[in-house]
Amino acid sequence: MALFCNITIFPKPLVPSCSSQKTHFPKSTQNTKLDPIFKIKGPATLSGHVTISGSKNSSLALLAATLCCSGSSLLHNVPNISDVEAMASILSSLGAKVESFDGKMMVNSDGVGKVEVDLEEMRKIRGGFFVIGPLVARFGEAVVALPGGCNIGNRPVDLHLRGLRALGAVVELRDGKVWAHTANGKGLVGGRFRLDYPSVGATETLMMAASMADGITLLSNVAKEPEVVDLARFLNDSGASIEGAGGDTLVIQGKSQLYGSECVIKPDRIEAGTFMIAASITRSCISMSPVIPSRVSCLIDKLSEAGCKISQVDPHTLRVSALPALCLGDDLKSFDIKTSPFPGFPTDLQPQIMALLTTCAGSSLVEESVFENRMSHARELQKLGARIEANGNRAIVFGKDKGSSLCGSRVIARDLRGGASLILAGLAAKGTTEIHRIEHIERGYENIVTKLQNLGADIERSTLPSMPYLV
Ligand code: EPZ
Repeated sequence: MALFCNITIFPKPLVPSCSSQKTHFPKSTQNTKLDPIFKIKGPATLSGHVTISGSKNSSLALLAATLCCSGSSLLHNVPNISDVEAMASILSSLGAKVESFDGKMMVNSDGVGKVEVDLEEMRKIRGGFFVIGPLVARFGEAVVALPGGCNIGNRPVDLHLRGLRALGAVVELRDGKVWAHTANGKGLVGGRFRLDYPSVGATETLMMAASMADGITLLSNVAKEPEVVDLARFLNDSGASIEGAGGDTLVIQGKSQLYGSECVIKPDRIEAGTFMIAASITRSCISMSPVIPSRVSCLIDKLSEAGCKISQVDPHTLRVSALPALCLGDDLKSFDIKTSPFPGFPTDLQPQIMALLTTCAGSSLVEESVFENRMSHARELQKLGARIEANGNRAIVFGKDKGSSLCGSRVIARDLRGGASLILAGLAAKGTTEIHRIEHIERGYENIVTKLQNLGADIERSTLPSMPYLV
């Protein structure tokens, strides 16, 4: 592992030593705005079984795809999380009929009368941009506010737009919005497009658009993520003709109409990965289902390399054990990771794995190659006593024998997965951890507090007087 030439060391925030942990949490006053927080008492030992919810990222893509379908689509196993609510609100704002009941969502978009997604809606969820494909393909035009960047990167949408142009759409950027319509008012036309980067979102947008284009479309260097495969399966069940999903080339024979169908959303591989790391960081043994092992194989390899014991109880149930007794060697060993598109190591598990590495023996190199700014959790982990030297999108993570010693403190969730890494670190830390800005975490994890409580964690969702000065 090469040491960096110019190292940026985050100024070491004052971390209360566990023994002198008398952090004064301010008393709430009557008319003060209260912010929800997570409070975790550690170190925790977890045990038992956790049920994994439906995939957030598959749900968002499939909800967008219901705009392609005439009649009603019925999605089962839809996670009850704020991102899904936000996507449903976008569909309703366009005029689609959306009903949700006991984990299902019925969507009928025959009533869509508006093709503009306004900024307010887009602000709530970036994935909302994916509706541009179905709107142009089925309704001939779309006006969608540019999603803009987020805490993990600039996240441009150039590949979505260039791909739509390759299918014959006229696309203009004006007043912070994308204005797209079909050239001849007739419809999109099949074409060829090579993505410069296997973007998940661009692949999904163009797959939906090409499904209703006139003729054959060839998309190459596409994303291979499982969520792309789930979307292709739903579209094919709705009458589309998509071949090659899961590979790096898609051949799509466009159809003039797709019909609503029924689909069970696959389990969330990132939520499953987060709980696998929860078992590891707390040196516990838990099982979880439903999980599709091939969708977390990279993580299984890395946790096994560290010394965890991972066993498949049945086709959809995994047991992860990092019980010291069962660990191969006296404790979990460090390892290096570099994120990359599927089947590489998922960027959405990078923050959680960084938290784990602060508790392993040795030091590790963590490289983030998908997003250019996905290291802000390193600073928060430092507030919890982690020793991390970050430099751009690379970080050296020093383990428990190299200066990291987790103990509770007040930290801020700056994005969804960064927030998840703070929960995991809080479970392993001595003392009380207080996580602010939890709205980031609740965007993508269904009932995470209850699930962890059922595994024996001392975690609660409570409120505190707002701390706008907290940075
Ligand atoms: C999806 O985002 C996921 N979100 C992300 O999960 C995930 O991190 C990401 O794929 C990568 O796996 C949803 O599915 C809703 P990309 P997406 O387009 O589609 C660049 C989570 O935590 N790019 O594959 O936005 C982009 O800037 C979220 O659940 C372009 O340059 O990701 C980035 O560096 C976070 N031009 C890279 O590609 C484009 O037109 C990967 O982005 C599009 C993307």
